[in-house]
Amino acid sequence: MDAKEMAKKQAGEASFRFIENGMTIGLGSGSTVYWMIRKLGEHVCDGLNVAGIPSSRQTEAWAKEFGVPLTDFSQTQTLDLAIDGADEADQSWNLTKGGGGALVREKIIAAAAEQFVVIVDESKLVDQLGAFPLPVEVLPFGWEVTAERIANLGAKPVVRQNNGSLFTSDNGNYILDCDFGTIHEPAALHQQLKQLVGVVETGIFAGMADKLLVGHPDGVDIRDS
Ligand code: A5P
Repeated sequence: MDAKEMAKKQAGEASFRFIENGMTIGLGSGSTVYWMIRKLGEHVCDGLNVAGIPSSRQTEAWAKEFGVPLTDFSQTQTLDLAIDGADEADQSWNLTKGGGGALVREKIIAAAAEQFVVIVDESKLVDQLGAFPLPVEVLPFGWEVTAERIANLGAKPVVRQNNGSLFTSDNGNYILDCDFGTIHEPAALHQQLKQLVGVVETGIFAGMADKLLVGHPDGVDIRDS
């Protein structure tokens, strides 16, 4: 395992300390979350009683593989905890998410959680967001028009592709990866984008994180907001 993967494992596994018996937990997406779900599965095998709501089909598959019981929002509308990764985290803990295309479900889950724990390896820490192009989920109908409107806000949107065809999210939508350069005001940019017809959600998670776990190959820093 390389150093970056070790750092992801450290952050993912360390998030287990926030999990208590009886909790309903939002399960984020991505390769750091993988380590959290794997660890959670071990404890479920040992008798821990929890239920998870997955934010993507991939996460659902991992939860089933590792024996983590699943539930959905028809059973509960609040979560005790959500744990998720990020593509960037700035010094105010604004996040860019959506590198895996699961940003809408991830945001619904984070917003429904009493506590939102973010797990990243150290490479995700930035002074300001923007080096990672901002994922924006848009409706397929008229996506070219929506992309033009986003370009008018100062971005270079690129529609995400997967093996030669357009990438489709678990919600059946497209993702525009939008290079805005340095994002000086993430919350304001999010609001501007949300006002555009055709935009479903943006990958800016501003002011949502309660804890930030930063993994290094040999340990983890736990930071409180
Ligand atoms: C999925 O859509 C994303 O928001 C992920 O949480 C994010 O891309 C982090 O993924 P990794 O843990 O794989 O870097």
